Amino acid sequence: MAKLWAGRTDGNTDKAADEFNSSIGIDGRMFRQDIKGSIAHAAMLGRTGIIAPDETDRIIDGLAGILDDLESGVLTIDPAAEDIHMFVEQVLTERLGELGKKLHTARSRNDQVALDTRLYLRDIAAQLMQKLTSLISALCDRAEEYKNTIMPGYTHLQRAQPVTFGHHLMAYAMMFLRDVGRIGDAKTRMNVSPIGSCALAGTTYSTDRRFEARSLGFDGICLNSIDGVSDRDFCLELASALAITMMHLSRLSEELVLWSSWEFGFVSLSDAYTTGSSIMPQKKNPDMAELVRGKTGRVYGDLMALLTMLKGLPLAYNKDMQEDKELIFDACDTALSCLGITEGMIRTMSARPERMRAAAGEGFINATDLADYLVGKGLPFRSAYKISGGIVAYCIKNGKTLETLSLDEYKGFSDLFDSGVFAAIDMEACVNRRTSEGGTSVASVEAQIAAVRESINESELTT
Ligand code: ARG
Repeated sequence: MAKLWAGRTDGNTDKAADEFNSSIGIDGRMFRQDIKGSIAHAAMLGRTGIIAPDETDRIIDGLAGILDDLESGVLTIDPAAEDIHMFVEQVLTERLGELGKKLHTARSRNDQVALDTRLYLRDIAAQLMQKLTSLISALCDRAEEYKNTIMPGYTHLQRAQPVTFGHHLMAYAMMFLRDVGRIGDAKTRMNVSPIGSCALAGTTYSTDRRFEARSLGFDGICLNSIDGVSDRDFCLELASALAITMMHLSRLSEELVLWSSWEFGFVSLSDAYTTGSSIMPQKKNPDMAELVRGKTGRVYGDLMALLTMLKGLPLAYNKDMQEDKELIFDACDTALSCLGITEGMIRTMSARPERMRAAAGEGFINATDLADYLVGKGLPFRSAYKISGGIVAYCIKNGKTLETLSLDEYKGFSDLFDSGVFAAIDMEACVNRRTSEGGTSVASVEAQIAAVRESINESELTT
């Protein structure tokens, strides 16, 4: 195909160079944004008198026709084209003749690609926020269901204190809520228009950048044209937010893998989200959770590749930047699919309260409450801690638990013990005494669920 930019050179590039240079396989997906941007540009050129009113109308009709034809499949994107911008302009010129060539007045592919990418990512950011919100809602629903289900809480992966499964699930809801906020922040900052920066220096035409920005739903314009075409912070910010989101998804996946093992047996994943082994008939493998954990590395890689691609670039546009889209699109696609799969796993898994409860009964996770009981009798915490530690050591040595120790045995450690000790170390009581805000008591978890539900209702209104 003859190059639209042939002039200084004859445009007869080597076939391998053409393939190497082409980005249409990646940026073709931005065709809607490219055409929408061009329609706004043509309207601006008409409004400012840079092109005549009837020319404006014909260009806009031509562009709208291309969009319809691409949507309906009458027209397909030519894989041999250099990029989506060249493809649309080429088709417009084929359809309108000389007039099509007027569209590229007072712009450059440098500001055009920056515009298209911002428009595209703005939509994807909204989708990501929606998916996150729906995952959070699933976690709230399940937390409500399991707000009374006692399990051991862990530190260092050692049984630590009793918590509820609902409380544990709500910890993830909090992480994903922050992710919604981070993506929302990135979306707000990306929502300024670079179009009109042109190649890098602005233009001699009397354009109206703010009109064009407004008509595309931007909050403002990039105030420096060199920055307008060089800035890819909006890709980096989104990729950073997604790297953190994936880290959260990966931690949850890791727990799902552990919890669904025979060793833990705390949850059973739905058959819909597990696979069998080709050789071992007894297997039910948590492949989806493992894949989410595995794909986290891809998204970190996308962020790292973006940062590295940009770090040495002199201003303004450099072709290296064409690499940005493959990376940020991969990060977005990966996060979107992982969010959907994770929501499915959460909504369909079932907890095994009896296994959780059994694990909570071993491991002396009420030992802190035993110490607190002695503090209640007037002992300083350090001394109470020491006595309780001695009791745990005694139990381990004699194959007993805090619940099965006799009152006489307790009294052997301190005169302060009376029969009230058994109520003090009762697992339900241990949980429901933790009424501090954010704590594990049923009332406290209910308050967390209510607060998170309120936040997601608000964020749904703003995405
Ligand atoms: N396909 C290019 C990209 O994605 C578009 C911008 C090309 N600009 C240029 N001056 N060659 O970055």
